[in-house]
Amino acid sequence: MNKGISLTGIKPTGTPHIGNYFGAIKPAIKLTKDYDARYFIADYHALNSTKDPKKIKKMTYEVAATWLACGLEPDKALVYKQSQVAETFELSTILLAFTAKGLMNRAHAYKALVQKNSDLKRDIDDGVNMGLFTYPVLMAADILLFDSDVVPVGKDQAQHLEMTIDIAQSLNHIYNKDILTIPKPLIRKKTQNVTGLDGRKMSKSYNNTIPLFLPPKKLRKLIMKIVTNSQSIEEVKSPDDCNVFKLYKLFASEQQQEKLREKYLAGGMGWGHAKQELFEIMNETVEPMREKYNILIENKKYIDDILETGSNKAREIAAKKMEYIKKNLGF
Ligand code: TRP
Repeated sequence: MNKGISLTGIKPTGTPHIGNYFGAIKPAIKLTKDYDARYFIADYHALNSTKDPKKIKKMTYEVAATWLACGLEPDKALVYKQSQVAETFELSTILLAFTAKGLMNRAHAYKALVQKNSDLKRDIDDGVNMGLFTYPVLMAADILLFDSDVVPVGKDQAQHLEMTIDIAQSLNHIYNKDILTIPKPLIRKKTQNVTGLDGRKMSKSYNNTIPLFLPPKKLRKLIMKIVTNSQSIEEVKSPDDCNVFKLYKLFASEQQQEKLREKYLAGGMGWGHAKQELFEIMNETVEPMREKYNILIENKKYIDDILETGSNKAREIAAKKMEYIKKNLGF
């Protein structure tokens, strides 16, 4: 039986944190088991905001090393770089002709910028480049070029996926033929929100993250900063609304959770102790990944080879699809 195709685009951004790992990386890598899984670094998407070649290079290596260290296996999945699959941009140009400008006007990211400009009494187009304006079209090309059946994304990307579906349906409708495969969004649920240092959702914009590959000493120091209440050591504590325990649950087995829960409920356990337990289990879990990451990031040639091999394969698939699309459109 043919497996369905899953596709994930990864924007090269700064250091990943625990929230990224549990919320996005781990669930996306899990799809390798049940799907013909494809993962690409969306480096041209990054160009809309970053014009520094060194930064683009650095972030690309970092994001590749992160995913490989977290368990992405390049011999079981297709791993490539968007910028090396030129067919993406050919398809993107075609899709522009099937995309209503009004649809792009409604895109959240663009609308937010326009709103900000208007709030600051600036020209509404200030800082808006056409790459940003047409971002959803390039994303649609990423997805449709590979006949993706499912696309796992966070809630913030749900609208982009709806737009992909819109654009694909409009093209198929005009030619009265299923030229493009309509993808199914796999929207990650809220339950995967990871608690940050201050108890809010872990997010770079809240400055409350725990970076994934922090060296042990720094990791411990950060964990000691997690916000708790001011109960004394003797007092009985409630695990369920405790930020430390919420994080502990992500790493611990049921049995381990039960044991720590008992310590909370028995009293006589201070916050320092709970945090130390969290540090130990977190450190133990991330250690193998951290070691792998540190080796990978020093082996750029190895990463280059993986991305090149993957991109060559991706191009073969993309070229076939482009030929099919162009033929049907009269080119
Ligand atoms: N827009 C996505 C993000 O910001 C990244 C992305 C680009 C993507 N192209 C994609 C995700 C295609 C899924 C499929 O996270």
